[in-house]
Amino acid sequence: MSDKTFYITTPIYYPSDKLHIGHALTTTMADTLARYKKMQGYDTFFLTGSDEHGQKIERRAKEAGLMPKDFVDRIVASFKQLWRALDINYSDFIRTSDERHRKVVQALFKKIYDQGDIYKSEYEGWYCTPCETFWTERQLKEGLCPDCGRPVELLKEESYFFKMSKYADRLVDYIESHPDFIQPATRKNEMLQFIKQGLEDLCVSRTTFNWGIPVPIDEKHVIYVWFDALTNYISALGYGTDDPSLFEKYWPHAVHLVGKDIMRFHTIIWPIILMAAGIELPKKVFGHGWLLVDGSKMSKSKGNVVDPLVLIDQYGSDAIRYFLLREMPYGSDGYYSDEALILRINTDLANDYGNLLSRTTSMLNKFCQGIIPEPGQAEPIDEDLKVIAKGLPKQVDEALNNFEFSAALAAIWKLINKANKYIEETAPWALAKDPAKEKRLHTVMYNLVEAIRISTVYITPFMPNTPAKVWAQLGLSEQPEVQTWESILEWGGTPTGIKINRGEPIFPRIEVKEAGSESPAAGKVKEEKKVEETKKEHPQVKDDNANVISIDDFAKVELRVAEVIEAKKVEKADKLLELKVRIGEEERTIVAGIALHYAPEELVGKKIVVVYNLKPAKLRGITSQGMLLAASLGDKLSILTVDKDVPSGAKVK
Ligand code: ME8
Ligand code: MG
Repeated sequence: MSDKTFYITTPIYYPSDKLHIGHALTTTMADTLARYKKMQGYDTFFLTGSDEHGQKIERRAKEAGLMPKDFVDRIVASFKQLWRALDINYSDFIRTSDERHRKVVQALFKKIYDQGDIYKSEYEGWYCTPCETFWTERQLKEGLCPDCGRPVELLKEESYFFKMSKYADRLVDYIESHPDFIQPATRKNEMLQFIKQGLEDLCVSRTTFNWGIPVPIDEKHVIYVWFDALTNYISALGYGTDDPSLFEKYWPHAVHLVGKDIMRFHTIIWPIILMAAGIELPKKVFGHGWLLVDGSKMSKSKGNVVDPLVLIDQYGSDAIRYFLLREMPYGSDGYYSDEALILRINTDLANDYGNLLSRTTSMLNKFCQGIIPEPGQAEPIDEDLKVIAKGLPKQVDEALNNFEFSAALAAIWKLINKANKYIEETAPWALAKDPAKEKRLHTVMYNLVEAIRISTVYITPFMPNTPAKVWAQLGLSEQPEVQTWESILEWGGTPTGIKINRGEPIFPRIEVKEAGSESPAAGKVKEEKKVEETKKEHPQVKDDNANVISIDDFAKVELRVAEVIEAKKVEKADKLLELKVRIGEEERTIVAGIALHYAPEELVGKKIVVVYNLKPAKLRGITSQGMLLAASLGDKLSILTVDKDVPSGAKVK
C-alpha cells in the first residue's frame, strides 16, 4: 500500500432544499484538498453525494405533491449543477437511493445483527425530524432539540437497537490513543465529554414511515437514516461486494470533512458501527465551524440564505472559492457578507495578485520588448524574495494537512505582497533609464515573473480557473512542466526568452453601484454624479473649469487607511503632532497640525485616512511621509476615520 494515497469525503447533503453557501464551503474545502494532494502525486479519491431517505425528505416530497424519488431527483440535479459551477472535481457522487448503496447498508446491518449487537425492543422518546436525531427527555433543552432548537416529536414504536454502550470504553481509548483522529482538538474534547456522560443504545430502525432502506430481517422496518447515510463512505468504495478493490485501497486513508453540527455522528456513532463490524476506523474527522450570515445561521425563516450560484454568476467561481477558504478561521465560525466578499476580491485578488501580474507584464512590454529576460547576478534584496518562496512548501503543506486553508493562503499572499513591495524597492522604471543597469533590470523582471509563477502554482488547488489565464499572459501555457508542484520547490524554474501576451486584468475590481454603500468604489460613482449635477445647475461649469477635475485626476491621489500607533507633541510647535502610523505592513511618520484639536492619546488606535503618495516634506526637522485628511470649518476640526473596521492599508477611493 502506497503512502501517497488520499481519500477525502464531504457529508452527503439532504436533498430537501437547494444547497446554500455553507454547503459550498465544506465541498470547496474537500475539493481543494483533493486537488492539492493530486498535484503532489497522491492517488486521490474524492467522494460526495446525497442523503435521500428519512422522514424529513418524505414529508418535504409530500408537501411538494411528489413521490420521494421524483422529489429528490430534481434536487440532486441542482446539487450537481452547483458542483459543476463551483469546479468541484469529485471522483464519485453517491446517492443513498442507489442500488449499490442499499446492498451494502443491508449487509452491514445484517452482519451486526447476526453477531448479536442489534436487538429488538420498543423506542419511547423524542425525535427531531429536521436533524433526524433521537433525544431522551433529559437531553432536551426547554423541550426543544438541543442541537437546532426546533420542536421535537414524541415517538413510541417498535424498533431495533444497536448496542452502542458496549463500545463506549473502546471508543474513548481509541480517541485518546489517536490524537489526530478528531480535529480540531477542541472538538475532540467536546466529543470525549459527551461519551463520558454515558452512551445509550441507539435506535436504528423506524416503522412509522416507508422512505428508507428496509431492515433485511424485518421488512416492516426501515433502517435509521443516519445508519444508512454514514455507510455511504464505504458503500461507494464497494465494501463487502465482489469488487472491494477501491475499499481496500482508499479506506485506510479516509478523511471525513464535516461541519461541527454533525461531529457526533461521525466521531461516535460511525466509529462504533465500524468497530462492531470489524472495520478499521477512518484516519481523521475534521469539523469546521459554521459560516454565519448577519451573525446567525442561515435559515429560510430569517430570509438570510445565500445562494452560491447567484454569487458564482456574479463574481466567478474562483473568487467565491477564494473567499470561503480565506475567510473561514481555523476551527471557529466565519462570516459571510457581500461587503466582506467584495473587499477580499478587490484587495487580495484585484489589488495584490491581479495587479502584480498586470504591472509585471506592463513593465516587461515597456522595458524588455515583452520577453522574459535572462537574469544576472543576485543582490541581497533578491534573497528576501527567494527566502519567502523557499519557506512556502513546508508552510503550505503543514497548513493544509491541518485543514488551515486560511493560513495556507495567507502564506502564499506573503510572497505576492513581497513581490509587490519588491517592485517599489527595485524601481524597474528607474533602472530602465540607465543603460548601465540593464542586467539588473533583467534580474528584477525575471524575479517578478518567477514570483508570479510560483504563487500561481500554489493557488491552483484553491482557484482552479485562474492559473490558465496567468499562464496565457506569461506565455507559459505550453509549458506544463513549470506549472507543477515539483517545479516550485527551487527558485528559477521560469524559462527565459519567452514572449508574453499581456491581457485584461484577471480580477477586475468590483464597483459597487448602490447609493449609500460603504464600499470604496461607491465614492467614485457619487463623485461622477456630483459633476453631472453641478453641470445641470450651472450650465457654465465645464469639465475644463479649474474647479472640476476628471476621474483620472482624482485617481492620482492615493488615499489609504492608516492606523495610528503612536502620537506625541512636537517640541516648540504648539499646533503640531507627530504620529506614527501603520499602513498595511508599512510604518510611517506623519506630522499633522491638529494639536489644538486632539490630544495625542485620543488618536492612538484610530483608523484615519492619509494621502499615501504625497511627496515627503520636512516640518520642524521631522520628515512627514504623507498627510492625514481632516474636515474643518471655522475653529472646528475633525479627522476622517473609517465607518467600519477595514484593515490598515486599504485604499480609499
Ligand atoms: O447533515 N456553515 O446534511 P445537511 C458551514 N445529511 N457549513 C455548513 C453550513 C453553514 N452555515 N450549513 C451546512 C446532513 N453546512 C446529513 C449528513 S453525512 C453521512 C450526512 C455543511 O444537508 C456542513 O458540512 O444538513 C454540515 O455538516 C453539512 O453542510 C450539513 O448538511
Ligand atoms: Mg443539517
